[in-house]
Amino acid sequence: MRFIHISDSHLGKTSDFNYRGFNSYRHLEQVIEAINRLPFAVDFVLHSGDVTEHGSLEEYTLARKLMERLRFPVKYAVGNHDNSALLQNALLGIESPSGRYDHTFVADGVQVVVLDTSNGFVPNGALTERQLADLRARCTPEGAPLIIVLHHPPLPLDTPWLSEDWASFDSRSMLLDESEAFRATIAPARERLRGVFFGHVHRAFQVQRDGILYCSAPSTVVQFAAYPEQRDPKPAPDEPPAFALVTLNDSQLTIRQYTLPRPEQA
Ligand SMILES: [Fe+2]
Repeated sequence: MRFIHISDSHLGKTSDFNYRGFNSYRHLEQVIEAINRLPFAVDFVLHSGDVTEHGSLEEYTLARKLMERLRFPVKYAVGNHDNSALLQNALLGIESPSGRYDHTFVADGVQVVVLDTSNGFVPNGALTERQLADLRARCTPEGAPLIIVLHHPPLPLDTPWLSEDWASFDSRSMLLDESEAFRATIAPARERLRGVFFGHVHRAFQVQRDGILYCSAPSTVVQFAAYPEQRDPKPAPDEPPAFALVTLNDSQLTIRQYTLPRPEQA
């Protein structure tokens, strides 16, 4: 089973929207073209959230037209810059959106569970008791190979601004609020859990904890600087847009990043 992992495209309502100094539409367009040119097929493309910048109808209408160009099916997690109802309705054409867009699907025998951790327009994510109970029911020791997807990192990373409260911003952090409960909930499925995939941090991280792999995708437009002891968020404009290819077979999981040159600025 193979999939492409992209994240944090931050589209605006028009194709000339500027996200932190760069045209997010042109960047995503270039990523889509690169994925379509790959000389092999993948089972799906995973977008782990922040499809848009403001979660508006106009943004999802633009996103739908652009993402329809991909030659593979696309699966979405909801980010903090997304609107769960509009993502379901305007981007995916779901007529009766659910309150939280949790969904599951099977790809080549692998069960994929996608959780909606959006929490309003704040950087920290949230899971409800109901979501944790549903996840607990799925995370049994026996069963098919499993992948879990969510927008927010459910564990600390090696950079203070990603992992600790921001004194300057209402004591918010970038993490999932229920990180410890999440990790305890998935632990029984460890033997069949092939990975936990997330976005939000605009950078590729790979972390192993308690025998479980956690992996984030880079942003399709702008990476965030992240180094040990860094306390304040800031963009890393010198680092290029990128996406990840994830390949699973019976014995191994392989992740590689593809970086792209920046497109011409519109
Ligand atoms: Fe985000």
